Amino acid sequence: MSTPTGDHAFLHDLEGTVREELALAERGRSAEEAFTAPIAEWLFDPADIEREEIGLRSLLGAVEAVEGSSRPAGGAPPDARGSRVAAPDHCLSLVRAVDRPTGAARYGRMFPDLDPLATDPRLLVRAGGDGGICDAAEVLDPRDPDGDDAAGAAGWPFFGQLVAHDITADRSPIGGGVEPGALRNARTPKLDLEIIYSDGPVGSPYLFDLGDPAKFLLGPDGADVPRNQQGVALIGDPRNDVHLFALALHVALLRAHNRIVDRLRANGVPEAEVFDTARVTLGRHYQWIVVHDFLPRLVGADLVEQVLAEGCRWFRPPPGQAYIPLEFADAAFRYGHGQIRHAYRLVAGGPAVPLFPDLLGFGPLPADRRLDLAQVFDLPGHPPAQRAKRLDGRLAASLIGLPEQVTGTVDDTAHRSLAVRDLLRGDTTRLPGGEAVARLLDVAPLTADELGQRWPHGTPLWFYLLKEAEHRGDGDRLGPVGGRIVAEVLIGLLRADPASYLSLQPDWEPTLPAAGRSFGLADLLAPAQ
Ligand code: HEM
Repeated sequence: MSTPTGDHAFLHDLEGTVREELALAERGRSAEEAFTAPIAEWLFDPADIEREEIGLRSLLGAVEAVEGSSRPAGGAPPDARGSRVAAPDHCLSLVRAVDRPTGAARYGRMFPDLDPLATDPRLLVRAGGDGGICDAAEVLDPRDPDGDDAAGAAGWPFFGQLVAHDITADRSPIGGGVEPGALRNARTPKLDLEIIYSDGPVGSPYLFDLGDPAKFLLGPDGADVPRNQQGVALIGDPRNDVHLFALALHVALLRAHNRIVDRLRANGVPEAEVFDTARVTLGRHYQWIVVHDFLPRLVGADLVEQVLAEGCRWFRPPPGQAYIPLEFADAAFRYGHGQIRHAYRLVAGGPAVPLFPDLLGFGPLPADRRLDLAQVFDLPGHPPAQRAKRLDGRLAASLIGLPEQVTGTVDDTAHRSLAVRDLLRGDTTRLPGGEAVARLLDVAPLTADELGQRWPHGTPLWFYLLKEAEHRGDGDRLGPVGGRIVAEVLIGLLRADPASYLSLQPDWEPTLPAAGRSFGLADLLAPAQ
């Protein structure tokens, strides 16, 4: 038998990988003993595994279809195994490999052996509330509003926010009452741009242009997303409409997809393959940006290289069985709340306007509220952008008093403060204290002076990691504990996703213009200007 080469070798490998994943999923489904535990202890729902299996069968069908069409004459015919449930051109065909992959998953833990910290919630409310230790307005000099500038550009935390929306959505009420083991994640724990693609052209047709379904539909002038007659955004994740910056990045991603479609057509890619190929292309470039542009800025290039080379130590879900650890969702990746400025300039020379209420979203984008992305990202040919806020354990006034449109009606006005919510979430999901995690990771815990605040039994993880960033990351990046959690989770998610570039083709490099290892977010955004 001859050995496949080039594209055939790649498809052959891909088919092998998908078959292995499928065998794993089938084994997972038959392991009924895994589901005899009380429901609150399940990490996975049997229905999720079934959905994963359907997704993998679809992917396998698509690989076989592509392989069949590109297989050299005389090669083995695609085998008939019932994995293709409909013809590839049928509009509801599961052969569409890149439609919504799986359903909701549960959360898990990175450090299951550590005890919960359990701080008195009244202390958390005092610390996170108006005038508390997490309120930046208490210490910021009003004559020097840029006095807490970090080194990084102001747009990066907003990219982080979109990454958060892509992988985690815990919709349980802030008051607690849901067992952490029973919390559901409404997003798939994959860096798969579900925030823009949602259920794809088949399941979410309102996202796409009826006249050209391979492309996203944009708002009337191309700067906004499509909205219904009541102004509600028709997008993959409603949270991306929360403020002007998330919306602008969302639109930039839609436009990037549409540009890739144009490029594929110009390169003669058959129309039937254009949408799926564009989605895979944008997805891979996004994943690349997370690993090679976003993460090095946030945790330092050395740690990224180390985790890539040596693998993850604390977060290693088996392929196809990823989950989001609560230490990540309810502490480490909420770092970004500490990088949000109170006010932003939208255009060169324009006034700085408060994030809330001025830049609140959830309605059509007003004509005088357009953002020049060069004001928040350092783009080639433009002066340096505004900087993000320094990480120091404090949140800008806009976040200490969130608008009701963001929080919904709250029983307790304290829940308007994002710092209170961050601290309470960590408590209701029973996170360990920062010092305990640091000791487990063999990192010297922060001193009382560095923390600037004594907590009765240990420091809530979210606050601890922000103070760690202040003292061990110069206020510009996460420290050793926060950085390790974030790097391992994001890289671990990619490794656990059988369709990510790190799983399928670890030596893949960007292919879009400005291609190569130096490709970054600016290259994706710049043409959107
Ligand atoms: C203006 C900017 C932002 C606003 C208004 C905002 C608001 C919120 C709100 C209201 C929640 C839910 C709080 C709760 O009930 O527990 C939340 C959760 C979260 N935020 Fe933000 N956020 C912002 C920026 C960011 C940034 C920059 C990041 C990261 C870089 C981030 C990461 C997260 C994460 C990881 C969660 C938990 C999500 C989940 O598991 O459901 N956010 N944010």
